[in-house]
Amino acid sequence: MKDRFGLETRGSPRAVAALEQAVAALFAMRPEAMGFLKTAASDADCALGRMLGAYLGLMSSERGPSEAGVARMGEIVPADDREAAHLAVIRAWAAGDTSGASRRLDTVLETWPADPIALNAAHQLDFFLGDAGRLRSRPAAALQAWNPADPAYPYLFGLQAFGLEELGDYPAAEASARQALDSAPDDVWAQHALVHALEMQGRAEAGLDLLEARRPHWGHDHFLKVHTSWHAALFALETDGADRALALYDAAVWDGGPDPLAMTLIDSAGLLWRLKLDGVDAGGRWDRLSDEWALHDEGAWYAFNDLHAVLAHCGAGRLDRAAALVDRMAGAAANPDPAATNAQVLKAAGLSAARGVLAFARGDYAACVAWLAPVRHLLSVFGGSHAQRDAWQRTLLVAALRSGETGFARALVGERLAERPDSVWSRARLAELDALSR
Ligand SMILES: [Fe+2]
Repeated sequence: MKDRFGLETRGSPRAVAALEQAVAALFAMRPEAMGFLKTAASDADCALGRMLGAYLGLMSSERGPSEAGVARMGEIVPADDREAAHLAVIRAWAAGDTSGASRRLDTVLETWPADPIALNAAHQLDFFLGDAGRLRSRPAAALQAWNPADPAYPYLFGLQAFGLEELGDYPAAEASARQALDSAPDDVWAQHALVHALEMQGRAEAGLDLLEARRPHWGHDHFLKVHTSWHAALFALETDGADRALALYDAAVWDGGPDPLAMTLIDSAGLLWRLKLDGVDAGGRWDRLSDEWALHDEGAWYAFNDLHAVLAHCGAGRLDRAAALVDRMAGAAANPDPAATNAQVLKAAGLSAARGVLAFARGDYAACVAWLAPVRHLLSVFGGSHAQRDAWQRTLLVAALRSGETGFARALVGERLAERPDSVWSRARLAELDALSR
């Protein structure tokens, strides 16, 4: 039967309807997606429902859920070209060829431009690949292809807003995000794009005000709640200092409870590392975080996760763990297979970023600068957002300061203040430099 996008979709009417509801819930990041997905996937004939389950595993960024999702999908004999194309994407992604999966998604979306499953998966993959161009261009193409009357249409502006933000076009990002929120106030991804635009301009007060005013729209349970709280903690670190940021960490990022997602551990490491750079003692939080990352070690599955594990081990003073992980990353980087995207990423910048942080933790600030400076414009290759990767940019600046490379440090501060003139953190580094030169 045809779904509401006019796409041929196998399955009972109940399963196809549930699949549509699952996809709509995913655009709004609502956890109800999982219930709808279960209904869709329980129909053995609804192959796309089972494939969406595999996509969700892959979109976790973790090897375990990825492999489990693909295993649950089972054997599928494609009934048409779209099913075959999605299956090829999933197989490439699961095999670690994320770059190849992205190119296959180009083909899927060229052939079926209104395919919401492809767009949803592609947007997440573009984020994992740090592909700002695709983060914008795929939603922009969907805005042309989708029926504007479709209830999910406004969410496309939220997707586009995040791409615009990652491309550095903050006014356009804000406009696109607000366009989404006007029609879909519950669009936590559009709100997230707006938050990023404010973060990148150093507008922390405005960010906190926005999140406070919009709390009824995001304070409930959804897939972005922890990450949104992390953003609030970053703003609070700027406006109110470390105590407030740590209070938010404990209350809303990670309280040390069991079975956190890798994405929670990423946010935890990113925040605590910023505090470490500021000389703040986070106490036993570091040990808990390092221990949890050790449990999440997945054998160089995804550099972005491993890089945050290195931050955690270094923050906890577990340099043995950090060094062992960096060695495993170096081993993975040696894979000559061009389709092993993680190896390419590690070679391009990931390994240098990891070694830079390890050098920092060892107190060898000159070595840290030597590792990080050459790759500071290449960090997007390991994925995530500019705001997340700022952990490494800040590390480089602090290392430059501590190693006495004051000219370089001043140039880095100048770059930051040009973009974020009101940044408390950058102004504090400038004051440190001024004090050194007196
Ligand atoms: Fe974010």
